[in-house]
Amino acid sequence: MFKVNDNYLKLPGSYLFSTIAKKVNTYKSEHPDKQVISLGIGDVTQPLAPAIIERLHSAVDEMADAKTFKGYAPDLGYEFLRTTIAENDYAARGVNIAADEIFVSDGAKSDSANIQEIFSLDNKIAVCDPVYPVYVDSNVMAGRTGTYDDTTGLWSDVIYMPCRAENGFAPEFPKENPDLIYLCFPNNPTGAMISKAQLQEWVDYANKIGAVIIYDAAYEAYISEADVPHTIYECEGARSCAIELRSFSKNAGFTGTRLGFTVIPKDLKSSDGVALHSLWARRHGTKFNGAPYIVQAAGAAVYSEEGKKQTAQQIAYYMNNAKIIKEALAEIGYTVSGGVNAPYIWLKTPNDMTSWEFFDYLLENANIVGTPGSGFGPSGEGYFRLTAFGSYENTLTAVERIKKL
Ligand code: MLT
Repeated sequence: MFKVNDNYLKLPGSYLFSTIAKKVNTYKSEHPDKQVISLGIGDVTQPLAPAIIERLHSAVDEMADAKTFKGYAPDLGYEFLRTTIAENDYAARGVNIAADEIFVSDGAKSDSANIQEIFSLDNKIAVCDPVYPVYVDSNVMAGRTGTYDDTTGLWSDVIYMPCRAENGFAPEFPKENPDLIYLCFPNNPTGAMISKAQLQEWVDYANKIGAVIIYDAAYEAYISEADVPHTIYECEGARSCAIELRSFSKNAGFTGTRLGFTVIPKDLKSSDGVALHSLWARRHGTKFNGAPYIVQAAGAAVYSEEGKKQTAQQIAYYMNNAKIIKEALAEIGYTVSGGVNAPYIWLKTPNDMTSWEFFDYLLENANIVGTPGSGFGPSGEGYFRLTAFGSYENTLTAVERIKKL
């Protein structure tokens, strides 16, 4: 008789965004007359930029011609895309990352979930709290997190680094040394950012204790302030301790098209000298047949002159929404942060409501969907996340509705 991987049975409830979708669908079916505005999941609303669409079309045409047709993509990504990424995201910032240190994938969500596979089950993970739930859930599935405490919402074998208003939503070095440190900046969900000097301290710390930093830079394109690192490899010594995850979803609207990449420098080795680069390459070879050619071709178009200009306009559009939300909420007395280097506004729930109470209150009284802070971890309790990824019109309407509450 077969048995299941019982680590899955340890997961409490369903995935955060599935729970929200279910609640919202129920509400909509019970209130078909209500116009519900979603500022919940960080999904883009602007269509793909013209330069990207044009390249998608021409790449489809190539697939229709026997001379240019492509079968399986190289599992690590097409050379043309890896080179373009190396030049634009790294060399242009004075950072040394070679094209063959870039692994193209179908998105940062799967990479952030899968990367833990190449590490020992004995390794201890450290995560920010609140945190993008995929990091913890994927480690639960692997069996690395111990037991779950329903009362505290914490896993016994996970090191939590609380990020709250008191510390500027920036993690502090944990008391116990971790092996794998998950960091995400600009941060999802808080929208906070850390300076280059702060990130350098994390790199120095990881090198000192022999840990790996898994650095999720999916929101890098939203950085607006100077002295803020766009990639962890701007920090000295990061090549020997950091993996970086990147996405095309938020910078270029590929949430439905799927494309991302992971950087693993060849200098990154375990304490017994094993290069993580070759392990991840081996994993890709076995478990992945490459992102589709047409999507990778479209990904390269993001870096064309037109592509850069058009995606920058989209980012400015979303950041204008962020400003509208943040200013309006501050004006009516909410405590708000984020929204400067990230498309997320993080607010304190009013009147000591719990995160889920505020979720229900907002859905029922303003027909607005947001994300409860506690869904990202216990330190998110009493907070709430709104995204700037809605349309301009919906953002204005949402703000007006909140003002009237
Ligand atoms: C979020 O809303 O946190 C993100 O959109 C989820 C994701 O990128 O998978």
